[in-house]
Amino acid sequence: MSKKIVLSDDEIPKNWYNILPDLPRPLPPPIDPSTKEPVNPAKLERIFAKELLRQELSSERWIPIPEEVRDVLRMWRPTPLYRAERLEKALKTPARIYFKHEGVSPPGSHKPNTAVAQAYYNMKEGIERLTTETGAGQWGSALSFATNLFGLKCMVYMVRASYLQKPARKMLMHSWGADVVPSPSDKTNFGRSLLAKDPNHPGSLGIAISEALEDCVTHDNTRYSLGSVLNHVLLHQTVQGLEALEQLKQVDDYPDIVAGCVGGGSSFSGLMWPFYYEVVSKKAPKPVKFVATEPTACPTMTKGIYTYDFGDTAKMTPLLPMYTLGSDFIPAPIHAGGLRYHGDAPTLCLLLHEKWIEPRAYDQVSVFDAAVTFAKAEGFLPGPEPSHTIRYVIDEALRCKQTGEEKVILFNLCGHGAFDLHAYEEFFEGKLPPWYYPEEEIRKSIERLKKELSWLPEVERKFLGG
Ligand SMILES: Cc1ncc(COP(=O)(O)O)c(C=O)c1O
Repeated sequence: MSKKIVLSDDEIPKNWYNILPDLPRPLPPPIDPSTKEPVNPAKLERIFAKELLRQELSSERWIPIPEEVRDVLRMWRPTPLYRAERLEKALKTPARIYFKHEGVSPPGSHKPNTAVAQAYYNMKEGIERLTTETGAGQWGSALSFATNLFGLKCMVYMVRASYLQKPARKMLMHSWGADVVPSPSDKTNFGRSLLAKDPNHPGSLGIAISEALEDCVTHDNTRYSLGSVLNHVLLHQTVQGLEALEQLKQVDDYPDIVAGCVGGGSSFSGLMWPFYYEVVSKKAPKPVKFVATEPTACPTMTKGIYTYDFGDTAKMTPLLPMYTLGSDFIPAPIHAGGLRYHGDAPTLCLLLHEKWIEPRAYDQVSVFDAAVTFAKAEGFLPGPEPSHTIRYVIDEALRCKQTGEEKVILFNLCGHGAFDLHAYEEFFEGKLPPWYYPEEEIRKSIERLKKELSWLPEVERKFLGG
């Protein structure tokens, strides 16, 4: 039996898979709050590279991956698919567990799959500098890595709570030549306004996005780059699922369950979309269940409200159709920094709304417990984000032990935990609080939004259909 299923360099996919033409119903558009109508894409050209905007709206099912991008991906792709047989044995389960190891990339996660493409297109269009936000530091590291390869400058706003928890991430970004500051920062008007109220503000992804956007529009030849949520970002991540399909063919197996964690939805969608296409195009040999995991401290999918909300705290972005906790959400300082965003990708939210995805939430104590079980069996120390999925996978495998079902479970190990040792230390010392976000706060935040935008119910009716 193969432990590690590998592909050759030239088997990196030649096209990304775009889910837009295959969604169960058309994706509700982003709304411009000044017109209450769908955003005019030309307005976004000051923020994003033109080709990325084209991909964002494209209805082509397959989008070619430029050879220069494939050439960089070759540094670590195709990533190996592992059969977690030691974990199966440790759990005494009849389930077959596979994981796609995205932690083998130089920055340590799936994030460079899109960072490389985004840096490439910006370079091609003559852009000299990119700004971005980062939570856990994974995305900031990935963009620093990619901009360095294509000769662009990079400015990273890192959520202050993570900046303090994970100083090593900062060194990694510096090594690739990027600038990184804790957010809220004194570099932007919005950051300064928050620091004036609270000099120790812990920050949030929503705030860091606002700062990166403000920096982008106030500097020449600068564009903004986002590591999740948008269609083009998720599209670039589909190399994961496309490779996994080929790898499973080699061992003549097929998943009953495809699982992943969700911060904004890019790693999960990157694995899920190609299997979803197999199902809707009737190529899948059996039904596939899609399971998305998240923290109870940031329960967008399990408790969020499906409406239109801003993507950032300063309300600079268009309104996006998503399950949200409210854009003024300030997360508890849990260690899964990548899973602390107040909303999720519109495509993922549509699939969730249409019941294609089953969401599950876990507290961080049970998550780290699963991470340690996995590390003992498989050796790799997982990042806190994929450990949410590992919690689900272990629970499901133990359920299969009770019922005798030989379920095939596929998940992505979307990041390693080598920069999260402090989190493991706190877990071993029993210092991690479980954290649950109160539903009451979500309701209040959305009430505030609807008070501010009294026309929102009308837009909801028109574009969300209810
Ligand atoms: C390792 C890792 N996994 C998951 C995520 C969550 O983001 P997404 O849902 O877009 O994959 C992040 C975000 O920073 C991350 O660093």
